[in-house]
Amino acid sequence: MMSHASAPGKIILFGEHAVVYGQPALAVPVHQVHADAEVSDSDRAGIWVDAPDIRLHAEHSRLALDDALGAVISLVCAETGTCPAETISSSSGETASQKDARRVISKGLEIKVTSSIPLASGLGSGAAVSVAIIRALSAHLGQPCDDETVNKIAYEVEKIHHGTPSGIDNTVVTYGKPIFFIKGQPIELLDVAKPFTIIIGDTGIPAPTKESVAGVRKRWEQDKRKMEMLFGVAGSLAEVARQSIEKGHPERLGALMNENQRVLTEMGVSSPELDKLVEASRKAGATGAKLSGGGRGGNMIALSTKENAPTIVEALYAAGAKNVIVTDVR
Ligand code: PMV
Repeated sequence: MMSHASAPGKIILFGEHAVVYGQPALAVPVHQVHADAEVSDSDRAGIWVDAPDIRLHAEHSRLALDDALGAVISLVCAETGTCPAETISSSSGETASQKDARRVISKGLEIKVTSSIPLASGLGSGAAVSVAIIRALSAHLGQPCDDETVNKIAYEVEKIHHGTPSGIDNTVVTYGKPIFFIKGQPIELLDVAKPFTIIIGDTGIPAPTKESVAGVRKRWEQDKRKMEMLFGVAGSLAEVARQSIEKGHPERLGALMNENQRVLTEMGVSSPELDKLVEASRKAGATGAKLSGGGRGGNMIALSTKENAPTIVEALYAAGAKNVIVTDVR
């Protein structure tokens, strides 16, 4: 028997970093890239993880305690009330489905993880891998997690990736729909009244979110007044952007994106390579562009009309983008 699950990548349209400090932000899934998990029974004892993209092939119990993949598996086992045979001391008080799941797990499992989402680039690869594994593994154990549980577990794992995550990545990846997000509040799906086109340009420079989030925190500690003012502006831009999207005026997003980029630059999270791609896309006709995600590398996004998209794609490659994705937000 084999169980499979897939989870999309994501981009943040507005409000990255400020969202960590309680401001609203907007994020949308990117279905062109995805992480996939396949769980199958195996004759070999233990839970084996095979992640060829990161050259990992190891038994779960041998993974380091702070390993994100290991943590996902442990959390799913805890949630479903199952755990690998060797750690069972007593099995009294189990439900029938827990007994069943334990039978599956004690025989041995193989979890294969693949992903077309570039690592450390602001496209949510960590969250997507977590969500795919949580869904495939819990389903294979006969106790599929609902969205809320998937999101909760993925958030726990984001803490290993990011340190102090807002939770926006795991939420948009779990629900696979555009969201308006405020840390700690119930999720709100965005109602996209008129579809629009976003072009995503990759600088090809990996930039761990943990580091850029720590950099922003340092600046905040040094000058709270200035940084909180910038967070506030980013939050207001996200609010206005939400109105524009829900009222059918996506063309208004361009100016808001440019303003958000200015604010992010002041927060210290842009980079010469991001600036170059942002500039190139604007020159090629994008009405707005900004970095997306943690910054300091990774991806930028540009707002385009459908007709002008090829021109912007070409301009981004000419300016050094390593990969470009065109996605329709709907
Ligand atoms: O780099 P990404 O795509 O993981 O973006 C993280 C977004 C931040 O706001 C910078 C951090 C967070 O936890 O929200």
